[in-house]
Amino acid sequence: MSVLACKGGTPVIDPKEYKRAPWPPVDMETAEMLKDLYLSGKWSFNSEMEQKFEQEFAEYHNAEYAVFMANGTVTLECALQALGVRPGDEVIVPGLTWIATAMAVHYVGAIPVFADIEEDTLCLSPEAFEKAITPKTRVVIPVHLYGSMANLDRIIEIADAHNIAVLEDCAHMQGGKWRGKGAGSWGAIGSFSFQQSKTLTSGEGGICITNDLELSDRLYRAKHIGYSRLDPQGAAKSAPPADLICHNYRGLAFPALLLSRQLKELPARIERMKKFAAALKELENIPGVRLQSPGKEASPQGYYAIEIILDPAIWGKARTAAAAIHSEGIPVATGNYGPVYKHMLFNCRNFRNTGCPVSDFMGEQAFSLSHTGMEYPEMVPFIEKAFRKVYENREEL
Ligand SMILES: Cc1ncc(COP(=O)(O)O)c(C=O)c1O
Repeated sequence: MSVLACKGGTPVIDPKEYKRAPWPPVDMETAEMLKDLYLSGKWSFNSEMEQKFEQEFAEYHNAEYAVFMANGTVTLECALQALGVRPGDEVIVPGLTWIATAMAVHYVGAIPVFADIEEDTLCLSPEAFEKAITPKTRVVIPVHLYGSMANLDRIIEIADAHNIAVLEDCAHMQGGKWRGKGAGSWGAIGSFSFQQSKTLTSGEGGICITNDLELSDRLYRAKHIGYSRLDPQGAAKSAPPADLICHNYRGLAFPALLLSRQLKELPARIERMKKFAAALKELENIPGVRLQSPGKEASPQGYYAIEIILDPAIWGKARTAAAAIHSEGIPVATGNYGPVYKHMLFNCRNFRNTGCPVSDFMGEQAFSLSHTGMEYPEMVPFIEKAFRKVYENREEL
């Protein structure tokens, strides 16, 4: 048996030889365009570039309207405000997600109520969502987490029956489609992030999409200190609705330009990652290894990442195994989101946490291979070899 790289052996592949997408993507043509934009002075305040990107992004995701903002946390906050969430209302959030999903609820004075996730997709369980509903529930936030989409059909069905608005957190799902229609266009509002790790990135940035004109106006007012995009040019400004707290969460033209350029490349990248993901299924032939399933009707999913789940009875702690696999030259993450409902901020207040055992398990036993490591299917045999090597030597970890 060969010696593990973490014990002084030779890695399966030199990390410098592992082919990855250079991230963030840069090119000289975009640099020239940025220069022109800079010289134009049209940088902010609903700039032409921003509007162009909003239109392109909305179209790609089959939505009517888009509102570009500073990041994918304030998009969630503005979305909750646009949906009329008030202090004391309850918003259902999955037990496993990035903290921003729950923080946005906190920012508007509402109460995040945590419901567990599904074993296969790692996204909000429709059954757990249904059980968490009370007369105070106003919104549910299914998160399309890592490499999967939440069961939108069931979640929307339950939400409609209880008059609850659906806010899709699509921070991980740029370009994803559910039954052929864009992520974020199924619920009342879809919220996306363009932070540096995302499959479309401008360093920071975010966008909301919707098919409802009134919601798009409330979103716009919430991020643009109360101004409306619907006021006729030159007319007196209409006052924002009294229940809306308005901020300066505006985006800029420069990130919009970067995103517009990258959006053109997204379908080809998704196709490459789809091939990679199909080849990666081989990993499931190794005992105790399972891949996150992409969601029943997701085609394609957005390929922000794929979660790899290790059976603790065979592998022990997944973090230890992931660190060993990383040492073999494979760019897997060695940490993961913990279950958000256990965060001190939420536990020290009197939220109704009944516990989310699947979220707890996945917080411990799942880890990611991110999109930048998923562009070249010829890397898959090295991944498989590294997993087998660590599996065979697992007693030494
Ligand atoms: C699921 C999820 N929602 C929301 C956000 C917030 O996005 P941002 O970092 O752009 O504020 C993130 C960020 O990574 C996320 O992963």
